[in-house]
Amino acid sequence: MARKTASAYVCGDCGAEHGKWQGQCSDCGAWNTLSEFRLPAAPAGGAPRGFAGAADGRVTRLAEVEVAAEPRLATGFGELDLVLGGGLVTGSCVLIGGEPGAGKSTLLLQVLCRLGASVPVLYVTGEESPQQVALRARRLELPLGGLEIMAETSTETICATALRRVPRVLVVDSVQVLHCDDIGAAPGTVSQVRESAARLVRLAKQTGTALLLVGHVTKEGALAGPKVLEHMIDCSLMLEASHDNRFRTLRSHKNRFGAVNELGVFAMTDRGLREVANPSAIFLQRGEDTAAGSLVMVVWEGTRPLLVEVQALVDASPLGNPRRVAVGLEGNRLAMLLAVLHRHGGLMLGDQDVFANVVGGVRVAETGADLPVLLAVVSSFRDRPLARQLVAFGEVGLTGEIRPVPGGQERLREAAKHGFTRAIVPAGNAPKQAPAGMDVIGVRHLAEALAALDG
Ligand code: TYD
Ligand code: MG
Repeated sequence: MARKTASAYVCGDCGAEHGKWQGQCSDCGAWNTLSEFRLPAAPAGGAPRGFAGAADGRVTRLAEVEVAAEPRLATGFGELDLVLGGGLVTGSCVLIGGEPGAGKSTLLLQVLCRLGASVPVLYVTGEESPQQVALRARRLELPLGGLEIMAETSTETICATALRRVPRVLVVDSVQVLHCDDIGAAPGTVSQVRESAARLVRLAKQTGTALLLVGHVTKEGALAGPKVLEHMIDCSLMLEASHDNRFRTLRSHKNRFGAVNELGVFAMTDRGLREVANPSAIFLQRGEDTAAGSLVMVVWEGTRPLLVEVQALVDASPLGNPRRVAVGLEGNRLAMLLAVLHRHGGLMLGDQDVFANVVGGVRVAETGADLPVLLAVVSSFRDRPLARQLVAFGEVGLTGEIRPVPGGQERLREAAKHGFTRAIVPAGNAPKQAPAGMDVIGVRHLAEALAALDG
């Protein structure tokens, strides 16, 4: 017997599909996240849902697939192009996520106004009126000439319009306000977001339009229904405000056309977003004198080195179970490093609270931060400031060995460029010829690194 209704229940957290409603998603364990997803009704008396009766597909040799000579479009923002992996790809879909007020609409408006001068572009605004957008564009003194705008939330209308006008770049702000008429669910629900995005992505592939979708972030920091969009889109970027709200970081979480975890930095000014070509400089604003527990490390961000300060505070704990708090670092890694410090460095921190913080709201997910974090902890514990012109990077192994990390030469060059004169690095990363004016100390073991501090 044929099924009467075609619907599935989709988990808003993990995107898993279930045949019937249940209180807890059996895939990811989240409670109360399932919502009904109605599949568009099959045409009356049409083909069955199986493959019997479907038309034959077209198969081609990969070598014979034609590729346009210039598939990338520069956005006019070097930082954005970098995060995209070298500009916008024709027919691709980029999702730009962020909290309200992060600057998504501002960034895309600036990009479209610049691109509009040379290629046809269309800005679909579902949240603001064209008057509001025009007002902002005028205030930012953007070139308005080529930009076409449409206030619309119906996915069908947007698709039909885009199909007729074929813009090279299409911005839809935002995916959460879109609705397809044949889906009986409210805008913003998993069903609507998923189907609207799917139709727009299909359209982009068909017409070779670069599609930029704006997505809002829930308070847990996830895009509403992130997993339901993740497999459709080619590139997922997240725009985040820094703690003091002056800077914005743009990071790629998924990219079919470039490196992931690439970081672009912008400053929010009264004239909109400006790119920051030298991000190290903004994370390095330190006071005149250096306190114990502070050290600059060179971390690897996407495809380039970044200088950031790490701070540690070690203090006698009033608790039976001393605290280990890591901000911008992985907590388990800090616990592991402290164990290595005890076993191979001979430092007893069992009765001390240890706090470690990466300054500027930067999150470090690579092992190159191990050695600098340990050195900062040692400096705080001994209450002895480290030299101001010292930098460090390197991975620390469980046996206390200091292991090399990728990009050693580039990291040293970046540090030398910013005036650092001394570096403690893994011996495997120490170059035959150090950058001019820099004293590079290669170490193989934690004990050597601690000795280098005293030397
Ligand atoms: P907006 O692009 O509307 O954010 P989103 O679309 O991500 O919700 O950005 C609005 C914020 O940016 C708001 O807090 C004000 C600030 N802003 C400036 O500081 N300067 C500017 O020139 C503009 C346009 C916005
Ligand atoms: Mg907006």
